[in-house]
Parts: sequence; structure tokens; C-alpha cells
Amino acid sequence: MRVAVLGAGVIGLSVAWRCARRGMEVTVHDPAPARAAANVAAGMLAPVTELHAGEEALLALNLESARRWPSFAAELAGDAGCDPGYVTCGTVAVARDLDDLRVLDDLHAQQVGLGLQVERLSGREVRRREPALAPSARGGLFVGGDHQVDNRRLLSALRRAAGARAVGMVTTSPEDPPAMRALDADAVVVAAGWRSPALVPGLAVRPVKGQVLRLRSDGRSVLPAHVVRGLDVYVVPRGDEVVVGATVEDVGEDLTVRAGAVHDLLHDAADLVPGVAEAELVECGVGLRPATPDNAPLIGALDERTVVATGHYRNGILLAPVTADAVAELLVSGEAPDVVAPFRPERPAVRR
Ligand code: GLY
Repeated sequence: MRVAVLGAGVIGLSVAWRCARRGMEVTVHDPAPARAAANVAAGMLAPVTELHAGEEALLALNLESARRWPSFAAELAGDAGCDPGYVTCGTVAVARDLDDLRVLDDLHAQQVGLGLQVERLSGREVRRREPALAPSARGGLFVGGDHQVDNRRLLSALRRAAGARAVGMVTTSPEDPPAMRALDADAVVVAAGWRSPALVPGLAVRPVKGQVLRLRSDGRSVLPAHVVRGLDVYVVPRGDEVVVGATVEDVGEDLTVRAGAVHDLLHDAADLVPGVAEAELVECGVGLRPATPDNAPLIGALDERTVVATGHYRNGILLAPVTADAVAELLVSGEAPDVVAPFRPERPAVRR
């Protein structure tokens, strides 16, 4: 089977690589791979810490994908011949004041109610667990199973692994439905993130802007060993750097870095982790997440030839393993696996 994958972001590359491993002849089309949202992402793999009330179906998918991450990363390392940067560091969620603590206690109650693994920590305990935290930390949660992956190493490993499995990469891509129909392929996988509606009109995906910073330690600033989550900001350790994010702005296709956003991110991050203020600011980035009306991805067949894998919003990196395996299975067997059944692209919740 000849498969055209439209989009060289984390979803498109993962789908391409997994399909190629299953014997398909795959070509990835993307005129601008550098604009993939995953280039800017922090790479958190945090289904428990990022639990949202009312999103239990998505939680199940997130947990299933987190479960697959260790084998996905190991197989990727094997095919790519390089380390994709999967780090099992755990995550601390931190309350800076009593209001934060109430929010964390609600989150904790939901997590426990769903049977998730989480520890409630006092202020002293959370500071002992993560010494880079400010002395003012009032309490927190520790989730030993929420991890992270280096987003840029991951993309580079996926490109190498795809190459090792003879996936073709082309820098042209159809820009509209007629051009997509004209592609010489048995199956087309639309994984073009927020741009996907240009290829599949009516697909309910829109861009949601996220501004993200990178800071580097000169060795004097104390940066965290765990992923640190505040209520409005996260700080993700990445070697001698940290990634600080992120704004969530429903403002359309806007790639501007705003001074106010940088100020707020730095202020909130340094409040949690004072060492951030001592670090060198090395990058201010912007990414556009592909969001859907119910915050869950669109994974499934639209017709006999077209499959959609987009709309992963804040969970694209986390959901890459389960999405890629589901698309490969769908293409091989004609049936999407049960795990993605609630996320079919034509479900009522995402119809426009
Ligand atoms: N998952 C992190 C973000 O979307 O900012």
C-alpha cells in the first residue's frame, strides 16, 4: 500500500514511521516542517497532572499513550540510531498560595477518585522533593508517572527513523482538496495540524497560540530536576536549559512574540523556581496548537482513502504513539482500534 502523509509534525512523522514499519510505502509531504507545533512544545507527557474535569475519555487515551511511550521510545532509538530524549523524571505540581492549594486539592480529589497514582505533599515535602522550588511553595502533588521527552530530539529521531525505513520526504504538499485527490497514493493521512481544514473543509480544527521560552543555566542558577507545574506556567528541565510555557491564546494565526506574555511567563516561572531569574533567556518561541471543540483529537477514516490524525491540541507529543499505531492498524485492517473509537473525526461534538 502506498501512503501519503500530509504533515511532518510529530503526528505525521510518527504515523509515517509506524506505517513504514508495517510494510507500507510511505511519503511525507510538508512544505515547511520547521513550523510544526512540536518544534516549540515542552514535551510534557503528563496525563495525570494535566487532568481536566469532564475529559475522562481523553484521559483514557492519554494514559494508554503514556503506557506505550517507553516501548515507542526504545523502538525509535533502535531505528533512528539516536536517543529520542525520553526522560522519566516525574512531575511536581506546586501551589504558591492558599488559592492555588485549593485548586490542587480539587485536582488531587479528582485524581484519587479516578484511581490515578499521585502523592499529596506539604510545603516542606514538595521543597524537599524538588529543591529548586521557591521557599514560599505551600504544598503540591507529586506524580511519579508523568514524564517528558525532548521535543526537538524526538522530531530529529523520528525523521531519522522514518528515513531508515525508506519513508520519502517531499517539500511540496497539496494545498486544497482537488490537489489532495490528485495525489498518487492508495491512502492519504491528513496530519497537517491546524492547517488541516484547508485539505478537509469543515474539519473543526483551529490554531491556539502558545508562547514558550527557553532559558539556559550558567551553572550558578538552580534549575529543577522534575517537570514543575504551577497553575499558570510550567518549567521543564532540558539538559542545561529549561522550557517555560505556555500561553493559551485563541487568537487565530498569530505568530507574534508579545512582550507582556514573556514578562508574565518569566514572572510566574521565577515565582515557582527562583533560579529562572538568573538564567540566560535564549529563545522566545510561538507555536500554534491544533485545537478542536472538545479538546480531543480527530483520529479515523473519513472515506475509503482518507484518514485524519490531527486536533491533538495540548497533547500531540503524548498522543503520538497511540495515534500512530491506530492509524497504521486502520490502514492495514480497515478497522480503527477500539482505543480511538471515541475520537472519530465525525463525532457529534466536533461537527460544525
Ligand atoms: N501541553 C503543553 C501546552 O500545550 O502548553
